[in-house]
Amino acid sequence: MKMLLPGLIAIVLAACAAVPEKKSVDSNALYSRLGGAAGVEAVVDAALRRIHGDLRINIFFEKSDLADVRRLLIEQICAATGGPCTYSGRSMEEAHSGMNLTDQDFDIFVEDLVAAMTEVKVSPELQQELLALFGPMRPQVVGQ
Ligand code: HEM
Repeated sequence: MKMLLPGLIAIVLAACAAVPEKKSVDSNALYSRLGGAAGVEAVVDAALRRIHGDLRINIFFEKSDLADVRRLLIEQICAATGGPCTYSGRSMEEAHSGMNLTDQDFDIFVEDLVAAMTEVKVSPELQQELLALFGPMRPQVVGQ
């Protein structure tokens, strides 16, 4: 038995090393149907381009690190749609605190997001699924 133990440990370690440390993603998850990482990135890039060029709300982003906002939005959408990510940003209340955003600002943000999704050819059905996940965040974003 004493002789066998190191061999057994070696086998177990080799088996562990062989299993890739990747969270499995359900092929039916919204994340997969959006096109995985590339799909989510395309949505966020198109949305941020529109928001950045939107004179009605771009002032809010004047002092923001857009690369940071991009990274966190990708993470958040990936996590919320069943992708293999963990959101590492602040809570929605904290992230938008001091901005005093109105319902109108929120509607414009959603309008830009919808236009972006249409631009990158996300179907209306998938757009609705994504909006159903983020629409309920309105009270955590508006009036903070
Ligand atoms: C459901 C709607 C929204 C979601 C899911 C969302 C998500 C996020 C996320 C994930 C961040 C980064 C968090 C962090 O810095 O830790 C962020 C930051 C930010 N959001 Fe939103 N947001 C929403 C609505 C809005 C709206 C309506 C506006 C303005 C019109 C806005 C303006 C900003 C700005 C300016 C920042 C950067 C804050 C900073 O630089 O400190 N967001 N948002």
